[in-house]
Amino acid sequence: MQNNRGASINKNRDAWVEINLSNLENNVLKVKEYILKHCPDKDNPPDIFAVIKADGYGHGSIMCAPTLIACGVKEFGVASIDEGIELRENKIQNPVLVLGASPLWAFENAIKHNIAVSVFNEEHLSTAQQLYKRLGKKLKAHIKLDTGMNRIGLTCDNANEFVKKVLSADYIDLKGIFTHFADVENKKLFSSQITKFKNIVDCHLSEFKRRNVKVHCLNSPGIFEYPEYCYDMVRLGVTMWGITPYSEDNPNFKDMLPVMGLKGRITNIHTLKKGDGISYGHTYIADKDIKVATIPIGYADGLARKLSGNIKASLNGKTIQQIGRITMDQTMFDVSNVDCAIGDIVTLIGEENKEDNIDSWAKKLDTINYELVCRLKMRLKRIYVR
Ligand SMILES: Cc1ncc(COP(=O)(O)O)c(C=O)c1O
Repeated sequence: MQNNRGASINKNRDAWVEINLSNLENNVLKVKEYILKHCPDKDNPPDIFAVIKADGYGHGSIMCAPTLIACGVKEFGVASIDEGIELRENKIQNPVLVLGASPLWAFENAIKHNIAVSVFNEEHLSTAQQLYKRLGKKLKAHIKLDTGMNRIGLTCDNANEFVKKVLSADYIDLKGIFTHFADVENKKLFSSQITKFKNIVDCHLSEFKRRNVKVHCLNSPGIFEYPEYCYDMVRLGVTMWGITPYSEDNPNFKDMLPVMGLKGRITNIHTLKKGDGISYGHTYIADKDIKVATIPIGYADGLARKLSGNIKASLNGKTIQQIGRITMDQTMFDVSNVDCAIGDIVTLIGEENKEDNIDSWAKKLDTINYELVCRLKMRLKRIYVR
């Protein structure tokens, strides 16, 4: 899978996603500072494992990885072996773990590309054993424990036997053991999950230490709320991208800066006469003559049609209102109050726009910010700035 954004310069379309690498750096360094201050063993802070699955939550994993490595990130997490191979093909040599479940038939490729997979059942072990016999190479793996997310992983009842078996297997190179929390803001649920995780990990801790098997469980909100459980590594995702993992405002998030912007240049300016409608269905009718600007971004780019008439943007330092239905490739704004010309930049998401951001869009769409950053399509070229 070749997906090198370095080669994709936005030559023929004036619409793009802007990725601010300085803000990415700021966020990782701020999280590192927080961890250093709050982790249990200050002389031995945990490694940072950056979660760059789904093309770095839409930000571009290959283009962001060098900045992350420069900030001290040690390992990477992806969703599939293909995503891992993409990192390897782009010369990223750090340890990579596939956080999701990988198909047995693809384990051989994980070995070939030096990618660790999550293991949690007998089939995983027997496949690794067969591959070892055939290739003479060990599968790199992290044991995935299911402590209550109930998605994938080994249920805790028979986990000790499984851990012992993996520790004694000569065909697996065990690199880690981990779990994932279903809702860090729910204290009762967190406490139940961490207790189950701790009970199992504690039984094997000295062996894990001796063999440098990394214990890890915290994601973004976990790092802030429960740094006492940093163990050897923390898995940092959404926070490094500058979008909040919290459902409400939270002071822990205050130093983070948004990494993703969404911008397009005006392609057309015209007058909409009083009484005329605009876009499909004429859902907006002008109550006076207004000046309208069109930008070449639409729902095919991931700008949800449901946001029609309900977002604001920034143009030449002024706020503008989106009007009429968002169409597949184009969207219109009332720019009556702005001195503007074709080619001027409309900022839908970005520091210039104080009225809307990924979080406000998520609220309007009754979804989460995680989904929206992943939704912006590859068709919008990513432009990297500092
Ligand atoms: C297993 C696992 N660990 C860590 C993360 C990172 O979570 P967050 O983005 O909340 O930091 C994810 C994200 O979905 C995940 O699936």
